[in-house]
Amino acid sequence: MAATMLKLLEAAQTTEEQYLRHIFVRDQMAEWSKSPLIMAKAEGVHYWDVNGKHYLDALSGIYTVSVGHNNRRVIEAIKHQLDTLHFSPPMHGTNPVAVQLANMIAEVAPGDLNTVKFECSGSEVNEAAIKLARQYHRLTGNPGKYKVISRYSSWHGSTLGALSASGLKSRKTVNEPMAPGFLHVFPPTCYRCPFGKTYPTCEITCATLVNDVIEMEDPATVAAVMVEPIGHTGGIIDPPPEYLRILRDVCTRHNVMLIFDEIITGMGRTGHLFAAETFDVLPDVICTAKGLSGGFTPLSAMICRKPIADVFWGPVATNPGFVEGHTFEGNPVSCAAGIAVLREILENDLCGNARRQGARLRAGFEKLAAKYGIIGDIRGKGLLQGIEFVKDLKTKERFPATPGIGLQIGRRALAGGLLCRFDPHWIAFGPALNVTSEQLDEMLSMLDRCIGEVLNETA
Ligand SMILES: Cc1ncc(COP(=O)(O)O)c(C=O)c1O
Repeated sequence: MAATMLKLLEAAQTTEEQYLRHIFVRDQMAEWSKSPLIMAKAEGVHYWDVNGKHYLDALSGIYTVSVGHNNRRVIEAIKHQLDTLHFSPPMHGTNPVAVQLANMIAEVAPGDLNTVKFECSGSEVNEAAIKLARQYHRLTGNPGKYKVISRYSSWHGSTLGALSASGLKSRKTVNEPMAPGFLHVFPPTCYRCPFGKTYPTCEITCATLVNDVIEMEDPATVAAVMVEPIGHTGGIIDPPPEYLRILRDVCTRHNVMLIFDEIITGMGRTGHLFAAETFDVLPDVICTAKGLSGGFTPLSAMICRKPIADVFWGPVATNPGFVEGHTFEGNPVSCAAGIAVLREILENDLCGNARRQGARLRAGFEKLAAKYGIIGDIRGKGLLQGIEFVKDLKTKERFPATPGIGLQIGRRALAGGLLCRFDPHWIAFGPALNVTSEQLDEMLSMLDRCIGEVLNETA
């Protein structure tokens, strides 16, 4: 029976609804299955779907394929690791590849961020960071500190703790109630300031308010502040330079752990290995994932500062160690991929390339803004940048959310063979860190064409 099914599937190329009925995808399934995107092959910044259609990947999968598809160095490292050791017992220890990657990360991470917990996904390391904060405070005589402050519009992951920290109602409401102990503040959306102010005369209210929230909640109950240095899901929320510095001061003042969710911004995307360096602010914890293994294997890392890690090295009678773990943590094949990716980034100066191509991307978006008059704001850093569409540049009035001009343009792009991130009001690019000028120009010119076509049709 199974063999017959497989034969049928090979012939049917897996796109027929009878086969798609057996898999959940992230997209709205009834809609997706009308024209299902099923990728079959990739190389560099190119994808081909099961029908042989070609796509330029301006999103590196989903900010994941940091060193390009089909990168031979990473593949060889994985093959070698598969021939050597593909799994080590996580309840009893670890493996040399995990130790090596942890040491490499300790070497390149900013400040004294030098101790790593490996997991498989962004959600898992964000969960780990929340648990680290709570357990750290418990071990250091502050067991009442458990609350986590994060931001509206944020995305920290699908597991219930990370979801509770997230601020996206569209992804939360269906799963409510959330876990207790999670509070949200407004993000630094300067283009549409939630307080009706204008930078820089705003005095960065969105950051200083975090201090007020901690004081109103009682600092003795607050464990951590968790933020993405550049928020993604709210439409590439790039904070003013003072913002993260103020959060740092506030957290230090109240003995609250500052956690940077660098699931997207980590590993070179903003032009430095970590956005913490781009903004020159040292958090207590960095969580990184997507680009860490280049998308070849599931891998994420929670990196904490030495004084925090030291607290977990107490004697067995009083200290259980860090009570957190998963079966596939520190998987040797994933860590081998992580080592190869990190070498690729460092030896080829891909952070430098992200800065250079980031400047080119900004210039390209600026050209589109001048040409079409519907781009109100361009945000982001390095190879994480997005554009916000507005109907009226002066009033910042948006286009109607339905059909959503960003969706129209993004879907048109996909149909025309360009993969980017799209939302009703914005579009973002996040290509591989080794993208070339020619490839980036081609991505931009495809976007240009799509904007023009959609505007023509809706005129
Ligand atoms: C900023 C951020 N944090 C956390 C996550 C969750 O990561 P994962 O989907 O690997 O669990 C994501 C995923 O998109 C993300 O963008």
